[in-house]
Amino acid sequence: MDFVSSIKAKAKQAPKRIVLPEGTEARTLQAADRIIEEGLAELTIIGNIDEINKLVAQYNLKNIEKATLVDPQNIPNKQKYIDLMVELRGKKGVTPEVAEKQLQDPLYLGAIMVKAGDVDGEVGGADNATGDLLRPALQYVKTLPGISVVSGAFIMITEDKQFGENGMMVFADCAVLPNPNAQELAQIAVATAGTARAIAGFEPRIAMLSFSTKGSAKHEMVDKVVEATKIAQEMAPDTQIDGELQSDAALIPSVANKKAPGSAVAGKANVLVFPSLEVGNIAYKLVQRIAHAEAIGPVLQGMAAPINDLSRGCSIDDIVNLVAITVCQAQAK
Ligand code: ACO
Repeated sequence: MDFVSSIKAKAKQAPKRIVLPEGTEARTLQAADRIIEEGLAELTIIGNIDEINKLVAQYNLKNIEKATLVDPQNIPNKQKYIDLMVELRGKKGVTPEVAEKQLQDPLYLGAIMVKAGDVDGEVGGADNATGDLLRPALQYVKTLPGISVVSGAFIMITEDKQFGENGMMVFADCAVLPNPNAQELAQIAVATAGTARAIAGFEPRIAMLSFSTKGSAKHEMVDKVVEATKIAQEMAPDTQIDGELQSDAALIPSVANKKAPGSAVAGKANVLVFPSLEVGNIAYKLVQRIAHAEAIGPVLQGMAAPINDLSRGCSIDDIVNLVAITVCQAQAK
């Protein structure tokens, strides 16, 4: 079974409640129709009801009637949400008036529905930039206990089966935190271990990447990765984490034998943690384009509940697949 089929099969076993805040976006609504048809999730769709109904008729969508539709102008639990928002962010200036105004924004409404426990997760971003989807989630849903940073991982599937786990690897952070310090980088590694287990379905062997292997170069950027490796090992003593490693030492057994003999990770890493967003974002796109790898994500990790961001160039399939992934994250929570 390929990766997408296995994720969908897992989602179907215990569908979770997912909110789609961009219900008046045509691809999102067509994807919602398929998600309901395939039994992947129970959906709440946010948007102007007349506009949603127009799209339902235009695309002849038979299953949307099984979703819960919420119009931001007529929110059933509005006072409950306002109270929660003021409780959570009153000190940051959120008054009942500010909360009421924020709730008219579907991205804030989606995030607060997740926080209130009315849904298990959220998928958006077909119509909004990454930062705009993430900001309400970072402000209200916040991070998992023990984790202070949200980051974004990609499941990379290469045709060359010699790498990672039969060609599958997890890369992070490729999407969120521009310049993590050592503590934050360690948290990214630990969160990515969780993504490898819950989504990729394998036990992680994590390489903390740098331009140096085991002291071959001296630089403060290398020091950061060395320190992050130590912190990550302390945070997750049962997870195989090693660094600092260059990417060839991480992936190629003969190089690993020379540069990092005895390492449990070098030469067979299936999770690559990059030292900064610049490196991670550039690396995943290069592997995707030059090596024709499938890049699935970003899967956001470290958030207290699963919330995932689509690319604005996404296809209907991408939306369906990301909802299935979000359901699997909610199952693992
Ligand atoms: N993890 C946890 N919390 C965070 C994070 C994070 N990574 N970043 C910000 N926060 C929190 C802050 O602590 C703050 O909380 P508070 O208000 O309770 O004090 C809140 O979120 C807002 O923080 P700001 O710094 O004001 O948030 P801002 O909107 O400036 O930035 C954002 C957050 C949007 C995630 C920003 O870091 C960003 O734009 N990152 C890059 C995203 C991007 O463009 N990625 C590349 C494209 S994606 C791709 O190619 C796949």
